[in-house]
Amino acid sequence: MEYIKVNSQVEKHVALIELNRPKALNALKIELMTELKETLIQLDEDDSVRAIVLTGNARAFAAGADIKQMAGKGAIDMFNIDQFSTWDRIKKTKKPIIAAVSGFALGGGCELAMLCDMIVASETAKFGQPEIKIGVIPGAGGTQRLTRAVGKVRAMEMVLTGRFISAEEAFQAGLINKVVPVELYLKEAIKLAQKVAEMSPIAIKLAKEAVLQAFNTSLDDGLLLERKNFYLAFASQDQKEGMNAFVEKRKPNFIGK
Ligand code: CAA
Repeated sequence: MEYIKVNSQVEKHVALIELNRPKALNALKIELMTELKETLIQLDEDDSVRAIVLTGNARAFAAGADIKQMAGKGAIDMFNIDQFSTWDRIKKTKKPIIAAVSGFALGGGCELAMLCDMIVASETAKFGQPEIKIGVIPGAGGTQRLTRAVGKVRAMEMVLTGRFISAEEAFQAGLINKVVPVELYLKEAIKLAQKVAEMSPIAIKLAKEAVLQAFNTSLDDGLLLERKNFYLAFASQDQKEGMNAFVEKRKPNFIGK
């Protein structure tokens, strides 16, 4: 792989994906996104992996879609390239993905972090949707996911002016889970992934699907999916193990079956 590095067992049951285009601040060229999509498909199928951490480096998580790759394109080129179908496939990843963000998370970089299920950031992280400054608008979910996360007026300000927000502001706004010193952001993200990886992998997937449904549906339809997933969990050995372990006052040993 040219643009990303993968360690499928950085800790027990936790995979780590590092975006690896440091000179271009991890700008998300199409080939990088294709590698990321294929890696996530593989990790989703790998039973030894229960949670995934996605990171960049201390200077940049990702500074957005690759402007140099897009600059000369027309609308029909963009339509035919259909780069966002890759994003649509990434969105279907069943296992939880935790973004470990330091430095720039801008444009598509901010959108990629928001496509993840949780975000741990370093104090140096900067989130923004600066597409307006280059004559376009967010194209990978920025107007939708950011608005749902931080509310209309703050999203509007970020999208219409391109203002970056600090990790602390992002935390206060509810965009991210945690802010830690720069030397700790990756460790903390892996720690959070480990915590998730200790749970039943089946329940985790059912729960992720149900929470994401809240963004797509009416309350009644969301509650219906939640109820079905709740019942489905009772078909797993992990449900028996989890409840028996509680009754027997011991730690459960989930096997993902
Ligand atoms: N695409 C391509 N290359 C990029 C890039 C991007 N999004 N962001 C940074 N780079 C490249 C720069 O061109 C530069 O390369 P060279 O050394 O070859 O010139 C290198 O990364 C380092 O960048 P800077 O010299 O600009 O670093 P800086 O510290 O002065 O500034 C920055 C950092 C504020 C992040 C600035 O690079 C910047 O504004 N980048 C663009 C951010 C942006 O507009 N992102 C949105 C892209 S559009 C999008 O994402 C659409 C969508 O919704 C999917």
